[in-house]
Amino acid sequence: MKQMTWNVALDELLSVEGIVAEDILSKNGPVLLPAGVSLSALREAEPEIVALLAKHHITHVRVRSVPDITAGEFRTALRKLVPAVNELNPMLTQLAVSQLGAIYQSIEDRRTRERGIKTMLAIASRLPREIRKTSSITLSMVDSNEREGERDYIHAVNTALLAGYIAQRVFPIWPAFVESCVMGGFFHDIGKAFMAELPSAASSQPSQPSQPRRNKNVLPGEAKIYNLHTLLGEALLRDVGVNDAYILSAVRSHHEKWNGQGSPDRLSGENIPVAGRIVAVANAFENLTSSLLIDDPRRANKAISTMISLTNSDFDRRIVGALLASIGLYPPGAVVLLSDGRIGIVLETKEHNLLCPRVLVCLDKNNRRVTPFETLNINKEGTVYIKEAIDDFGKRKQEQEQLSGEAVEKVD
Ligand SMILES: [Fe+2]
Repeated sequence: MKQMTWNVALDELLSVEGIVAEDILSKNGPVLLPAGVSLSALREAEPEIVALLAKHHITHVRVRSVPDITAGEFRTALRKLVPAVNELNPMLTQLAVSQLGAIYQSIEDRRTRERGIKTMLAIASRLPREIRKTSSITLSMVDSNEREGERDYIHAVNTALLAGYIAQRVFPIWPAFVESCVMGGFFHDIGKAFMAELPSAASSQPSQPSQPRRNKNVLPGEAKIYNLHTLLGEALLRDVGVNDAYILSAVRSHHEKWNGQGSPDRLSGENIPVAGRIVAVANAFENLTSSLLIDDPRRANKAISTMISLTNSDFDRRIVGALLASIGLYPPGAVVLLSDGRIGIVLETKEHNLLCPRVLVCLDKNNRRVTPFETLNINKEGTVYIKEAIDDFGKRKQEQEQLSGEAVEKVD
């Protein structure tokens, strides 16, 4: 982990990442820019700060780096914690990504896709048990950064994990339904596999106008054809023998909106099948937090506020509530600045108090590494609180581990 501070010229202040290391004072005393403010937050909330500092003849700002902790370091620290923070078996999620990739790539061969989908159902059946044991689903989501070619498969796996996680919380004593939601998440966009020529993310984003899109120039005709992927996906699954009504409705209805303005059936409110409502929320949240779509270290927090803002129009508020109640305002993996200047990573949140998660403290207030890392229960300490989220460590890099010893079959 790098520990450094450096001077940043004023005209570069809003184009670098870091945290203000020292208070910037005006000549007669008042603080113009307090230490501890993250530059990414400043860029968004106070872009006029540069003009203000220039007016006070400030030419440079002392900046310190945000923590640069490797995935290996973080996971090692996680394993040593007492009580432990459980993650999903990373081999299982990696296997799911690679299996889904194989299905997409052989989608036109009926026999191969049938075999692949059945194998995928076997993988999905193992996930609810894994999901039940973790309180920190955002730590188990797969990072799609730098893996553009696998983005669609990674999105599907993350959506499946989130859908299962939400379903587990809404219907804790209905394991068969949780399993169906996981499977619905895996296959929600399978119809896109037949649409290789169309923009792949055009219609899967929530209707937030300010969110950057991967594809900005979608023609109206393309969008209409694209919207058929829900029906195509449902038909494809029926064709290979899937007859679980919850899986099928999740695939068909994951673009319906609470206000009736969605597709393909323009259902509204509770007329939308519940599995479809759950996958809709999981799909939207995954897209919003994807580092490929939004290159912003505070994306987890922004994703949460966007989900809240779309609740009345797009989503079932109870399902959004179930997601937010379990990931908290600072989701596991969020890098946070504490009120005493220390920096840590959120390990897990508590459903009864979203502002008080358990945090792994990595840097002290002087930006020195804490060795070994300490855990801090914000609730118990009382005097320390989270000032802001400054980065997102939740999307861990998926390591290229060998998939030996797995019993499920892989499609060639
Ligand atoms: Fe979709």
